[in-house]
Amino acid sequence: MKTTDELTRFGDVDEHELVRALQPYRGFVVASVLHGFLERGLYDAIAERPRPVQELADAFALDPVRLRTVLLFLANEDLVAIDGDDVVAPTQQLTEVGKVRAWYEMMIGGYAETFLQMGDKLAAGSGPASRNGEYVGRGSCGISLHDSLPIVHRLLELSGRDHRLMLDLGCGSGIYLTELCRAHPQLRGVGIEPDEGARDAAVEFVAAEGLSDRIDIELANAVDYLEAGQLKPDLALLGFVIHEVLGQQGEEGVRRLLGALFGASPDADLIVIDVDHQLGSPEHMRHPLAQTYYNGYYLLHPFTSQRLEPIAYWEELFASCGVEVVDRQTTEPSIDSTGLEVGWLLRRRGG
Ligand SMILES: C[S@@+](CC[C@H](N)C(=O)[O-])C[C@H]1O[C@@H](n2cnc3c(N)ncnc32)[C@H](O)[C@@H]1O
Repeated sequence: MKTTDELTRFGDVDEHELVRALQPYRGFVVASVLHGFLERGLYDAIAERPRPVQELADAFALDPVRLRTVLLFLANEDLVAIDGDDVVAPTQQLTEVGKVRAWYEMMIGGYAETFLQMGDKLAAGSGPASRNGEYVGRGSCGISLHDSLPIVHRLLELSGRDHRLMLDLGCGSGIYLTELCRAHPQLRGVGIEPDEGARDAAVEFVAAEGLSDRIDIELANAVDYLEAGQLKPDLALLGFVIHEVLGQQGEEGVRRLLGALFGASPDADLIVIDVDHQLGSPEHMRHPLAQTYYNGYYLLHPFTSQRLEPIAYWEELFASCGVEVVDRQTTEPSIDSTGLEVGWLLRRRGG
């Protein structure tokens, strides 16, 4: 029961303040609805051609009252337009959202549940918050196609080598494997993924891309898999995974991973993609993309057993494991000018 004093204080909020203070709630609802709209295939259906509401309800076996409510909500947010004949079309704003669906897959599908647990999981000793591994893997791969895959292509070119067997550790939906095998016809690939949902998604994706004869996907943790010594790849990839190993198994885990990889394949190339930890740097965090994306991205890591670190930390750790940096690249400024995403080409020292 609220005291009269508390009620009065609440009543002190004027309408302007209320509207301003509720913008984050509005963004939360819009983002959640957009994620469902994209996942259900409704965006693709209306992007292909505008469709009557009834046709959408029938085609997707949807509850007509709920569908109409969602569409009216989106229309009020200027995300869809519904004409006098009840035909729905995406607005320009929704078309832009459609282009960045992978960010919604990862940050809403994968981590919305994590954000909702933050109050509880601030408590010391409360353990990690949950996340949806399938969406994290799938969304991350979709984002990678846009930003980190070009870094991988560039580093492979710089390596000057023709690789035959690639091991993608923490392969998510497997998109690096399919893209790189397509670009390099002599290459075969193995993807390792410890999340069952992500593993299943990867198996399905590789099959749909018609590459199951060149790419295998296995359910495993990177360190365990490498220590079992089943494979001698000449190329290994850790796309946003080394900070997962650091969070789960500490520096010792990363050392074991690098030791097992270069122990089995002393001449291998290793490509590591990760994000420079600059959450506390106003200079980096003032950037508009840092504010809209990286701020929330940095936030979720310590809640989900992941540990991001700055570039200097990683390079010292690599050096102390006898691994040298052959090259370091970042994203094309036209894609992401924060410079926060880094890709290293690494080799065993003297290898
Ligand atoms: C952020 S996603 C990256 C997916 C993909 N590599 C990319 O670059 O887009 C991290 C992936 O690493 C996987 N992962 C987590 N811990 C791992 C571990 N110890 N060994 C291998 N993979 C791990 C997760 O399940 C998830 O699919």
